Amino acid sequence: MTILAIESSCDETSVAIMREAKLLSHITANQAVHALYGGVVPELASRAHLSNIVPVAQQAIAEAKIDKKEISAVAFTGGPGLQGALLVGAYFAKGMALGLGIPLIGVNHVQAHILAHFIEDPKPEFPFICLTVSGGHTQLVLVESPLSMRLLGQTRDDAAGEAFDKTAKILGLPYPGGPLIDRYAQSGNPNAFQFSKANIDGYDFSFSGLKTSILYTLKEKTLQNPNFIHENLHDICASVQKAIVGSLIEKLYTAAKDHNIKTLAIAGGVSANSALRNEVLKTCQKRGWQCFIPKFEYCTDNAAMVAMAATFKYQQGIFSKLDIQTAPAMRGF
Ligand code: KG4
Ligand code: ZN
Repeated sequence: MTILAIESSCDETSVAIMREAKLLSHITANQAVHALYGGVVPELASRAHLSNIVPVAQQAIAEAKIDKKEISAVAFTGGPGLQGALLVGAYFAKGMALGLGIPLIGVNHVQAHILAHFIEDPKPEFPFICLTVSGGHTQLVLVESPLSMRLLGQTRDDAAGEAFDKTAKILGLPYPGGPLIDRYAQSGNPNAFQFSKANIDGYDFSFSGLKTSILYTLKEKTLQNPNFIHENLHDICASVQKAIVGSLIEKLYTAAKDHNIKTLAIAGGVSANSALRNEVLKTCQKRGWQCFIPKFEYCTDNAAMVAMAATFKYQQGIFSKLDIQTAPAMRGF
């Protein structure tokens, strides 16, 4: 079983080759073009995928030291994601499957983020609860088996990554702002400023109120002192990060306690956040729970996780038809 997998849902063109669940190669091309615009421009993302996809796939095949004829299935991200971006990966995958006469496997991007935990050892045992936090998604998922996942809660408005990126934009930082807020926060005081947090019952999240609170606080302070942001950047970043991470952690622990689950995981781009990683690790250690945090390279969008999800599907004989559509708002698992 040798799978070539493609990830093209947003602004990374990534191709991985996995044999018997072991990664042979993994190449990712980032798209610097979006930094100029303060966010991902869908049309530019599609065009960059179109330029990148063939050289990235060729490099992945060369680094895996395999012949194309050895590939037994081709996988791609079917959604959720940007429609134009998804189409590039889907068409490339369909062409390859048709040309080589091999099966096609469409993969759910959010499910792939969760299954990134199975790329390397140690792997979580089922059932576990995963907090999936990225630029487009914030979900609490009860993972019962590789392909059986139950959505417990999700964001009602902005995703956690969006909350980081939008705050960064208010602060005048370039896109993507999440990693920069993380970096500045390391030398800031997380208790310097208080921002109002959403109070939502159950396992759902909301970040739009926090964003408004940050915006109004900074407007007011900047009126009094035009250099306020510049002079307090590190403290603002640390306080914002504390507020976002605090809301995420609170729901994660409540869900774990309610479902009597003692294995927790985090996934998605925001799981690269150092405060979130430290907080989850610290609390799990204190409670004697098991905690799974992916390597940085498997947190943000990558094709290795798509290859992993496709491996589970291949093992169960779940393949896609050649007329499968991409699904920008794909829901469910
Ligand atoms: O999973 P991902 O690569 O793409 C999506 O599927 O959205 O996640 C990207 C998101 C961006 O919002 C980015 O700002 C955020 O992950 N991110 C971070 C960090 N690294 C990436 N947010 C906070 N702290 C970080 N260290
Ligand atoms: Zn993602």
